[in-house]
Amino acid sequence: MRFTIAIDGPAAAGKGTISRAVSAHYGFAHLDTGLLYRAVGAKMLEGVAPISAAQNLEPDDLEHPKLRAPEIAQAASKVAVISEVRSALVDFQRAFARRAGGAVLDGRDIGTVICPWAEAKLFVTASAEVRAKRRFVELAAKGLADSLDEVLADVKARDERDINRAESPLKPADDAILIDTSDLNIDEAVTKALTSIEALR
Ligand code: C5P
Repeated sequence: MRFTIAIDGPAAAGKGTISRAVSAHYGFAHLDTGLLYRAVGAKMLEGVAPISAAQNLEPDDLEHPKLRAPEIAQAASKVAVISEVRSALVDFQRAFARRAGGAVLDGRDIGTVICPWAEAKLFVTASAEVRAKRRFVELAAKGLADSLDEVLADVKARDERDINRAESPLKPADDAILIDTSDLNIDEAVTKALTSIEALR
């Protein structure tokens, strides 16, 4: 059985949590595509040219211990505007999406560019303030947090770059189901996602 679920949205809207819960529910494989851009961003910070880093990305690069750090998130959103970086990562994502047994991919352009044919598309959002608070709590738990203000500024800077870039900008697919998680807890957000997907199966 092939069934692809595309989950897009801005940073810290709840995509990751929803994607993990949805993939566990259906027994589908899950790819957090942000990790690919983070891995390329991490290589850039180590002095590797981003296009070359994207073209030569290895599975081990996705295990880099600092991929969740704020400076790598910023580097990821900078390399993500480069069209050759994006195109180098397309085949891997599409192959993952078509794997037998079903797949959930989360990112920014999954429903619009990588898998416009996906059977289910969700666009998960929340206000920038709510997202910054969530990211702050997450980062603080890992000892990676700056101040809440800095996290908010980081989130807004990434939104700005992701929404306004020429190549594969962050936006909902025309047929995406919108889920605003600003006033939802995790269980409510996951239930809403599963109910929306069930209606498409
Ligand atoms: O999702 P995450 O916050 O890990 O993504 C890091 C950065 O990678 C994003 O800010 C965005 O610039 C980029 N990205 C992207 N397309 C994707 C996934 C992530 O451009 N499909």
